[in-house]
Amino acid sequence: MTAALSFIHRFEPATVPGLAPLLLLHGTGGDENDLLPLGHMLAPGAALLSPRGKVSEGGAPRFFRRRAEGVFDLDDVRRRADELAEFIREARTAYDLAAPIAVGFSNGANIAAAILYRQPDALAGAVLLRAMVPLPEAPAGDLAGRPVLILSGSMDPIVPAENAGRLTAVLGQAGANVDHRVLPVGHGLSQADVNLSKQWLDKASAPAARG
Ligand code: MLT
Repeated sequence: MTAALSFIHRFEPATVPGLAPLLLLHGTGGDENDLLPLGHMLAPGAALLSPRGKVSEGGAPRFFRRRAEGVFDLDDVRRRADELAEFIREARTAYDLAAPIAVGFSNGANIAAAILYRQPDALAGAVLLRAMVPLPEAPAGDLAGRPVLILSGSMDPIVPAENAGRLTAVLGQAGANVDHRVLPVGHGLSQADVNLSKQWLDKASAPAARG
């Protein structure tokens, strides 16, 4: 069953008790269906919550507006991050969920990072696949040991290595427990992303993940 909430979304209930739910956040041009197979691979049996970004860029769904490739509309990033955090709260009530771990790719990773900056309590942790620094200001709250995995590509034409390194430093300074790996790949996902994310999630989302 899928409740009528503030984002179009897919929800799949848990079949294994005690695993942290995953919040799946697609890249530009994706939708709520895209990352469900990845969610099943990364955390078999976990509840999956997968919203569709509300911004349309020439018909391609996104989670916030941008002015050009890698140049974000910062006010929109802030507003949309808060809006998505509110959706997470709605969904937690509707589906009786613990705080989710975000798994975001590209634009989805960037909005997940923006939620960590603005509303850290909305997430129990995050896997950020090809993320960039989402906002120029420092995170507003204490990330209090939140586990964060950042996977970057050394040949990524969209995310400069320096930018992902800066995101790692900023989240670490705000108290997150960040693991950053740079893979010999481009912007697209690779089998190494799946393997590393799964290993990391097996530890981070084990029973009694933060509620
Ligand atoms: C973004 O706009 O979030 C990044 O440039 C990644 C992308 O969606 O291409």
